[in-house]
Amino acid sequence: MCGIVGYIGPREAASVVLGGLKRLEYRGYDSAGIAVLHANGDIGVSRAVGKLHNLEEKLAAQHLEGHIGVGHTRWATHGGVTEQNAHPHVSMRRRVAVVHNGIIENYVELREQLLAKGITCASQTDTEVVAHLVEAQLECGADLMSAVYRTLPVIRGASAFVFISPQAPDCLVTARLGNAGGLVIGQGEGETFVASDIPAILEYTRDVTFLEHRQAALITGDGARINDLDGHPVTPKLYTIPWDPVAAEKGTYRHFMQKEIAEQPRAITDTIRGRADFNRGRVRLDTLALTKAEARALQKIVLVACGTSYHAGLVGKFMLENLARVPVEVDYASEFRYRSPLIGPDTAVLAITQSGETVDTLAAMAEGQAQGAKLWTIVNVLGSQAQRISDGYILMQAGPEIGVASTKAFTSSLVDLYLLALSLAELRETLSDAELRSGVDGLARLPDLVGRISEQGDRYDALVEAFHRREHFLYLGRGINYPIALEGALKLKEISYIHAEGYPAGEMKHGPIALIDPLMPVVTIATQDHVYGKMISQIEQVKARGGIVIGLVQEGDTLVHAKADHVMTVPVAPPFLAPVLNAIPLQWLAYAIAVRRGADVDQPRNLAKSVTVE
Ligand code: AGP
Repeated sequence: MCGIVGYIGPREAASVVLGGLKRLEYRGYDSAGIAVLHANGDIGVSRAVGKLHNLEEKLAAQHLEGHIGVGHTRWATHGGVTEQNAHPHVSMRRRVAVVHNGIIENYVELREQLLAKGITCASQTDTEVVAHLVEAQLECGADLMSAVYRTLPVIRGASAFVFISPQAPDCLVTARLGNAGGLVIGQGEGETFVASDIPAILEYTRDVTFLEHRQAALITGDGARINDLDGHPVTPKLYTIPWDPVAAEKGTYRHFMQKEIAEQPRAITDTIRGRADFNRGRVRLDTLALTKAEARALQKIVLVACGTSYHAGLVGKFMLENLARVPVEVDYASEFRYRSPLIGPDTAVLAITQSGETVDTLAAMAEGQAQGAKLWTIVNVLGSQAQRISDGYILMQAGPEIGVASTKAFTSSLVDLYLLALSLAELRETLSDAELRSGVDGLARLPDLVGRISEQGDRYDALVEAFHRREHFLYLGRGINYPIALEGALKLKEISYIHAEGYPAGEMKHGPIALIDPLMPVVTIATQDHVYGKMISQIEQVKARGGIVIGLVQEGDTLVHAKADHVMTVPVAPPFLAPVLNAIPLQWLAYAIAVRRGADVDQPRNLAKSVTVE
């Protein structure tokens, strides 16, 4: 989950790389560092523990000057959080510097081999061994690209690297093994950028390509020459990223999460754009070309995802089974790959992933592909690994999501699942013309309905003041709102560090009701649907035991208002779109409580935006 940036061109490399790292800080930030190739052939390095501003202060005094450089924000895996373990790592004779994302599984064995040759590692990291191995090849007369080629075969594990060397004063070399998080290469005028994520280079270029597994690239200011590790040239696919640089900025907002909750009306508008034909009452998904025959032959869809994306899948099950009448299983990606799933050519494995780089989800996709299933993905990042390996994809079109806590990507995922359900319903003829038209019409007002609850305002202040010090929360939902209870609990726990649990409301009497006490707020999602009455009795059961109820209800509700201690309100929406609205007050509640507790909202402890290691 580390952040990598590399640069070669006419600008000062240290400045470009530091700016890129700032846009990647959400990926992991125990420490950071930059290495630059000085004109005199030396490698200048600056590293600092903690947030990027510590590195920035060191750089102000160090003056790393040069036009080729690499940088790294570290999320520690091997070796503690120390300056010595921060990247970039430099080889013993300072002939090469390297930044790395991923894990070298056999680094202990490699380190022992180096020690036997008199080469000692200064750090506790796995990465450092690669610097020494490449240097050894350079000393045998290899150029930098050849030295990297000769080194990679002895490395086990998924990794992405960028190398610079005084012996290669006009290029940098990058390489990728496995799914260790992407490597994007951006092309400017006489300058080239490398990064682990698109936001790092968006201010300079939107013309990019991506390094695939077992590929390496020699990069100059004029571009990248990519080969596979057998030395065969590769013609990469070029993409133009549809995001503007401002989209990856915080703007006037205090946190990225605040901005991304607030911009959900626009994000959902963009998700719908070009897909919902309101005149014909139909949905068109051009990037998931499916014939009627293929849609009718579909026996099962397995949704695989992690975290918030998994919760989206649980909601999607209701949409796909009720509208398209296709059986759906939903699996944590990290579980799916180990349960010997019963899938085959009549199954579609649909991965839901904002980043498109989550290693568990990519592994689940590989399992689906190995079993001959169709491979689809709902993904936010064009050019990400998940999008590139799938047979068909639906972009979330939510714009870059920087905050570690996923918000707009979640609601955009729900809309994509709804679009897919309507599209399959038409192909499988499970809905009448009128039902299809009604389903599509429901999307027309969705951005407006979302807009009515997407500004934070002061509507949550009383709840925040009352409950921001509580140690436990319980979230209850039924049916299509049970996943929203899970999502609300995840939002709160991951940014405020309060223990929060989501539970199916019907399960309370089978154990959790023993937890009820006046100290634990119980958030109950009780919007008008076929289980509303059950939720009313659930609220009564909690109140009867002295519990505190925060009801999430639709406008016009009176029953819950009469029973609950506090109420959050959303506009009335069609049943399958109500979860889109219901998630938003829970996003705001988690955000406001975390801010009130002084938590680091955009960079919660121990978390990273894209989980690219197992
Ligand atoms: C959500 O708030 C979390 N940051 C996390 O659960 C996230 O949803 C999960 O890691 C999956 O990420 P992805 O959608 O990029 O695959």
